[in-house]
Amino acid sequence: MTLLQVMAADNAADVRVRTTDPAEIAAELARHGVEFARWEVLDDAAGTDSDTLLAHYAPQVAELNASGRYKHIDIARIHPDDANPEWPAVAAGARGKFLDEHRHAEDEVRFFAAGTGCFYLHIGDAVLATVCEGGDLLSVPAGTLHWFDMGTRPDFIAIRFFEEEDGWVGDFTGDAISAGFPSLDELLAAP
Ligand SMILES: [Fe+2]
Repeated sequence: MTLLQVMAADNAADVRVRTTDPAEIAAELARHGVEFARWEVLDDAAGTDSDTLLAHYAPQVAELNASGRYKHIDIARIHPDDANPEWPAVAAGARGKFLDEHRHAEDEVRFFAAGTGCFYLHIGDAVLATVCEGGDLLSVPAGTLHWFDMGTRPDFIAIRFFEEEDGWVGDFTGDAISAGFPSLDELLAAP
């Protein structure tokens, strides 16, 4: 479920907007300088290997990258693997990487081919929790304070666009703000 929940940055209980309408989500994000778009969804993306996915989305990727600004385009994917006794630790480790507030020197551009993840954008006096699902493209502008929650059971496939090979490296603010906001699991469970 694609969802946008806008909250006051100093009070997560102060919910200003909650919508699942893609057009409303795009408009609200655009007001904050954030690009959101929908691309068509490939059936059974989870069962499709990464090279085939990249080939499938080549036209959209080429259009997005018409300027050639993104030099490194790849796929990040994580799926539950309950047969692996290490899976809970792998999941927790992956989830913990970007759960604290940080920013990047370049735009963080992600297309979700499948699955779910939530970007929390801390812009001015608001936090915009944006739950992305398969078909959603989100571009977090360079320098924007944010964090990312993939949930307690990470499951997504995302095409990533980088200008530099290490564009994913985060500059962490040390602010504990993310702890005061509903997790992805909680956002999805809320009525
Ligand atoms: Fe990030």
